[in-house]
Amino acid sequence: MEVQFVDFSEQYRIIKDEIEPGLKKVFETGNFILGKEEKDFESEFAAYCDSKYAVGVNSGTDALYIALAALDIKEGDEVILPPYTFIATALCISYGGAKPVFVDIEPGTYNLDPKKLKQAITPRTKAIIPVHIYGQAANMDEIMAIAKEHKLKVIEDSAQAHGARYKGKRIGSLGDVSCFSFYPTKALGAFGDGGMIVTSDEKIYKNSLMLRDYGREGRYEHKIKGYNSRLDTVQAVVLSAKLKRLDQWNEMRAKMAEVYREELKSVKSIVTPPTLADRTHVYQTYAVRLPNRDKVAEGLKEKKVGVLIHYPIPLHLQEAYKELGHKRGDFPVSELVASEILSLPMFPHITKEQIRYVCDSLKALV
Ligand SMILES: Cc1ncc(COP(=O)(O)O)c(C=O)c1O
Repeated sequence: MEVQFVDFSEQYRIIKDEIEPGLKKVFETGNFILGKEEKDFESEFAAYCDSKYAVGVNSGTDALYIALAALDIKEGDEVILPPYTFIATALCISYGGAKPVFVDIEPGTYNLDPKKLKQAITPRTKAIIPVHIYGQAANMDEIMAIAKEHKLKVIEDSAQAHGARYKGKRIGSLGDVSCFSFYPTKALGAFGDGGMIVTSDEKIYKNSLMLRDYGREGRYEHKIKGYNSRLDTVQAVVLSAKLKRLDQWNEMRAKMAEVYREELKSVKSIVTPPTLADRTHVYQTYAVRLPNRDKVAEGLKEKKVGVLIHYPIPLHLQEAYKELGHKRGDFPVSELVASEILSLPMFPHITKEQIRYVCDSLKALV
């Protein structure tokens, strides 16, 4: 047997008949940039996130970058984030000249540890970016309370958590602004790059609209120095069809996560994804922890099981951030998790048989 890390061929089969006429219409009308379908999808996605506004952009990275710019975060400012995330969470801070300030993660959820937040706040701190890692929300109540106390903005990095809920509320509706990625392997993935800024704050919305489109208000009236970062209409057609099925596909992921949990519960050395009672986990990524991770990963690849490591090097130890002067030991929880984590195949249409093959292969290796 062979089990790919992700396989979205079944998703394509399901949406094919729906997207083909939609794409044909875009091809025929030539409305490739900010066409009707793109605007419709923005409304659909805002509603899905229980938020007022959504602004389609080129990628999740751009969504974060533009959201920070919309909040006027700039050189001399500090922004707090976990070091255990994809590098885009930090890059968006650096692009605007602000400084990323790391706060370690919780051992239980791999999300930003609110207990360690206060000690990182300085008079220059302007914002916090919690990352809903793997598809489960960070401790938003505690983070929002600290942010309120210190008058900080909260930008959710929701790139991995489309559709997840925290205390019943949708991800995307919790912080001041929330940023999504539609990179093809995400739970809601485009057929190329894409991203979305979601907010209920009119000022952030209006700023984001201008920033993603050359800073213009009219066609050739430019109020600010904006960028060119828009979600393509063709991607919106694909994403709109997938959004209708996202909750169902997320439930399928959750069911398959249960199969993994059952299969692996007898193996003491494997830690399956911790899930909390007050939030849902959408399992964008199914990541387990285990000793001898690198050897096991090699063994699984030999057995034709697709695995990845999200993430082997925490951001404070990345060469790109050497100017921050961090060293090994500065964020021990992130470092420990990075040394043990392994992402196993996960996608809505993975079968029980495939999961059993993955787990049998895994058990033979640990
Ligand atoms: C946590 C996180 N933040 C940001 C991004 C950036 O998104 P994109 O690849 O769409 O630029 C990603 C995805 O790659 C991500 O996983």
